[in-house]
Amino acid sequence: MTTQRTFSILKPDVTQRNLTGAVNAKIEAAGLRIIAQKRIHMSLKQAETFYAVHSARPFFGELTQMMSAAPVVVQVLEADNAIARYREVMGATNPANAAPGTIRKEFAVSMGENSVHGSDAEETAAIEIAQFFAGNEIVG
Ligand code: CMP
Repeated sequence: MTTQRTFSILKPDVTQRNLTGAVNAKIEAAGLRIIAQKRIHMSLKQAETFYAVHSARPFFGELTQMMSAAPVVVQVLEADNAIARYREVMGATNPANAAPGTIRKEFAVSMGENSVHGSDAEETAAIEIAQFFAGNEIVG
């Protein structure tokens, strides 16, 4: 097993409902270490850059508006197999399909307001981390 890093966002539906600590407790209980964290208010431009891969999708406008409408918490998480581990604890993108005990099953509101984002691969994790954190803000 290799120590790996992944990028996480606690989305506006989490910060608006005061669930940051509750979601972080789930993250830590899954063995993921929060090695960088900050609360920011994304600009629409930042959201569009972050989700550029989805720019042709019909939900792109709704997604980027929602992500820039209220504060989010951006994080770097570290663990053995952090990417797969976090995706497991997040649960399915659509909360209706998320397994019991997952973050999305317990907290998500809908497919759009699905509480958390996690990177899907090492390459994207590195790109996403670099969009929001300088090297000296990550303390493993
Ligand atoms: P996330 O893991 O942040 O990556 C892309 C996001 O797009 C996803 O979580 C969902 O919040 C959102 N998304 C995916 N599919 C839909 C959809 N059909 N309608 C609205 N939002 C969606």
